[in-house]
Amino acid sequence: MKISVIGTGYVGLVTGVVFAHLGHNVICMDKNEEKIEKLKNGIMPIYEPGLEEMANKSYREGRLFYTTSIKDAVEKSEIIFIAVDTMPKKNWQTDLSSVKKVAADIGRYINGYKIVVNKSTVPVGTGDLVGKIIKKNMKKKFHFDIVSNPEFLREGQAIYDTLQPDRIIIGSESVEAAMKIVELYQGMNSVIKITKLKSAELIKYASNSFLGMKISFINSIADLAEITGSDVTEIAEGMGLDKRIGREFLNAGIGYGGSCFPKDIGSLIYTAKSLGYDFGILKEVKKVNDKRVKRFVERIKKVTKLTNRKVGILGLSFKPNTDDIREAPSLKLIELLLKDKAKLKVYDPVAMENVKKVLKNKVEYSKDLYNCVDGTDLVILVTEWDVFKNADLKRIKDGMKGDLFFDGRNVYDPQIMKSLGFRYFSVGR
Ligand code: UGA
Repeated sequence: MKISVIGTGYVGLVTGVVFAHLGHNVICMDKNEEKIEKLKNGIMPIYEPGLEEMANKSYREGRLFYTTSIKDAVEKSEIIFIAVDTMPKKNWQTDLSSVKKVAADIGRYINGYKIVVNKSTVPVGTGDLVGKIIKKNMKKKFHFDIVSNPEFLREGQAIYDTLQPDRIIIGSESVEAAMKIVELYQGMNSVIKITKLKSAELIKYASNSFLGMKISFINSIADLAEITGSDVTEIAEGMGLDKRIGREFLNAGIGYGGSCFPKDIGSLIYTAKSLGYDFGILKEVKKVNDKRVKRFVERIKKVTKLTNRKVGILGLSFKPNTDDIREAPSLKLIELLLKDKAKLKVYDPVAMENVKKVLKNKVEYSKDLYNCVDGTDLVILVTEWDVFKNADLKRIKDGMKGDLFFDGRNVYDPQIMKSLGFRYFSVGR
């Protein structure tokens, strides 16, 4: 099938590359010329395991095309995926200006029947809005259908999640259009659920919000575990054995970050409010998360002062296997530590370049994990990269000046850390 994907951000690029891998003809369009030029030269704009090889193979074999022309993309395809940015405004309302602009362009260049599929995460009702904008901008009347096909991929395992999703949600008021999209996913061994257009739009927000709720819930239990002297990991395991609850997303820590949970939870609270519904439970989820890093720093300050202390920070990306630092707890943490005049050394396996652009010379950048901890009074682990999990802990201890280790992701065994001579603090244990 002839597909175009408008927007080569995380979702757009991965979607286009995977469809091309499945044998479809895919045009990936982006208005950013430099990005498209780089893609043509095999250079990916994001770090995602497996993406580069898969993209470059399909490009060489002539199934994947890159363009900056939306006219071309619209005219040459029957199915058009909208995967442009939907950034939050200050009040967490979703900024739909990019989606609206693409819809207007689709209307302008439409030259036959098209299925317009929303992949971007957009508030309920956006599908209808896109339809109206397309109609308004048409020079000649053509039939088209709107579908919502939300994306559930996780950064760091985007290819795997896209090829083997738990479920594929296809929301449309047109059965024919929905069935065409079902065809597109032929060959994937996943449950496909066809829903109303608006249900699909809400499924995405409800899912991310629910996962965020699990995290804030377990983080609250972690606080209680600290007060009572119990162990949140054991509690999560005990809870997770109940199939109705499940163990996933019950890892306590210094809170969720990234470009999805904070944005989607904020947006759903906003949408609900604008529809006259007070989503109290979700407001609390956000509140718990917003306080996470501050609480962690307060805990550190109960043990040691920070002024002029040398602190090694391990992990900067919002989670492992990505270079993404959007809404990363590390940045909030660094801001608070700098306020307390701590001297910071930082290290991340892949996010260093992104962090340098934001923090400039406010911190010292280390070339590896050991270099980062050497000579420090205390170490704080923020992101649970494998390289930290498998680190030589004795080497870390020997290199440090002090003995304080604060683990924001419960990576290590407290007994082992103690036996190595660390004063070790983790979350809810
Ligand atoms: C999330 C969802 O998991 C995807 O299904 C969804 O498609 C995506 O958002 C999206 O809307 O595009 P992602 O943001 O890539 O994916 O990352 P997650 O693996 O969900 O982690 C989000 C945050 O929660 C991270 O900061 C992570 O450290 C934190 N987290 C996760 C916890 O603190 N505890 C956990 O148990 C799990």
